[in-house]
Amino acid sequence: MKTVKFYSGETTPLEMHKVRVVQKLNLLPIEERKESIFGAGFNTFLLHNKDVFLDMLTDSGTNAMSDNQIAAMSVADDSYAGSASYYKLEKAINEVFNQQYFLPVHQGRAAEHIIAKTFVKPGMVVPMNYHFTTTKAHIEMIGGVVEEIYTDEALKTKSDFPFKGNMDINKLNKLIEKRGAKNIAYIRFEAGTNLIGGQPFSMANLREVSAIAKAHNIIVLMDTSLINENLYFIKIREEGYQNKTIKSILHEMMSYTDFSYFSGRKVSCTRGGGICTNNHDIYMKMRDWVPLFEGFLTYGGMSVREIEAMAVGLYETLDFDVISHSPTFIKYLVDALDKKGIPVITPAGGLGCHLDAGEFIAHVPQTQYPAGALAAALYIASGIRGMERGTISSVRDANGNDVLADVELLRLAFPRRVFTLSQIKYAEDRIQWLYDNRELIGGLEWIEEPPVLRFFVGKLKPIGNWVDKLVEKFREDFGDSL
Ligand code: F0G
Repeated sequence: MKTVKFYSGETTPLEMHKVRVVQKLNLLPIEERKESIFGAGFNTFLLHNKDVFLDMLTDSGTNAMSDNQIAAMSVADDSYAGSASYYKLEKAINEVFNQQYFLPVHQGRAAEHIIAKTFVKPGMVVPMNYHFTTTKAHIEMIGGVVEEIYTDEALKTKSDFPFKGNMDINKLNKLIEKRGAKNIAYIRFEAGTNLIGGQPFSMANLREVSAIAKAHNIIVLMDTSLINENLYFIKIREEGYQNKTIKSILHEMMSYTDFSYFSGRKVSCTRGGGICTNNHDIYMKMRDWVPLFEGFLTYGGMSVREIEAMAVGLYETLDFDVISHSPTFIKYLVDALDKKGIPVITPAGGLGCHLDAGEFIAHVPQTQYPAGALAAALYIASGIRGMERGTISSVRDANGNDVLADVELLRLAFPRRVFTLSQIKYAEDRIQWLYDNRELIGGLEWIEEPPVLRFFVGKLKPIGNWVDKLVEKFREDFGDSL
């Protein structure tokens, strides 16, 4: 992505790629969108993709691949053991991440499973800048405890703090003192901190945490699923990094960690995942779980075609034009909405544009799931599918009470290199309409609530008849437009 200046003086993001394969989209009339959301139990995970116009649910497994990735898939070497495709990937891990040992797995959460199983024992603590849903579930399933040690800036929805993904050093020191270093399984740093709005950490913070960890003999794990945008933000926001290559920034980051893992569905625009380390002991502790849970060590549950594409995709993460695309588009939408006074997480991060549903529909109490209600309302108003990242995405406590989320967010993910600027402008327009008519939106209540990761397949219904009112107002304002 480049930002160029127009003759008029305006600046605009300009794509450094052209589209050579396309997929037809469908935009249903609002009455049919209403039917679809009722059918999906007001859960955007349960919508059929054919009923969705812009799929902004996630960037996971939905990024556009490059021509070189697609080409690599056709030369894949199919074999259970010793596939040449695997050795290409291992070489890419060595060169891109500067990591010697690699364990392939079928996706990011499979890495979380193996890591938690190996290093977490009941009662042990895992400090982290912020949790991710599957990460936390794997640690807690073993009886471990997640402790989030984010800074005061992290949960401020309006901020100009450039590194909201940082850890609070004081909180970390206190936690180590209170729990004792021996009871800390590892410190987990999540790049591009997902659930607080795709926010990066700084190299300075990582360096400091790493020094503290070393002094206490605690190992540091990095989740590099969203490393691309974190690298981009360090390069453009952190002093001293403007003239460094993406590769040297990444290698410096990795030098502060003992091991790392990634979801290939994000970082390499493929499917799959893996665990990387330069520490032979750490590698050996996990190695034998891979053939048991994932597949033999030279495929780990991935198809060889994905392995080929992953190797190419990892090299492409070192290209500034590639990794700057989604944060530049996200900034475009975030800044446009912010200018109109629409509550959106600032500064713009990676991963997506996050609407602050708690503020957007402040009249809907948190117990009626504002982020879920806004996700459903936006789908009805536009055919755009976002993801609830609020109380529905959390879990009930031991007494069965809802644990209200720190922030109620509607995430509109930007799969990398998938949408055009006019589609983003459409999103901006429909979000503005929804904001101007926000008093029509009401809350939700459960019909079916699964006990684990309820946000995936749980079903809800609207409280009252707010949906009909919203549809009526849409017709009034837009006539017979889609
Ligand atoms: N870590 C982070 C930071 C993630 O964002 C994800 C997935 C995972 C781990 C798990 O990886 O899906 O390959 O098993 N995030 C997806 C999302 C699901 O939509 O944000 P996975």
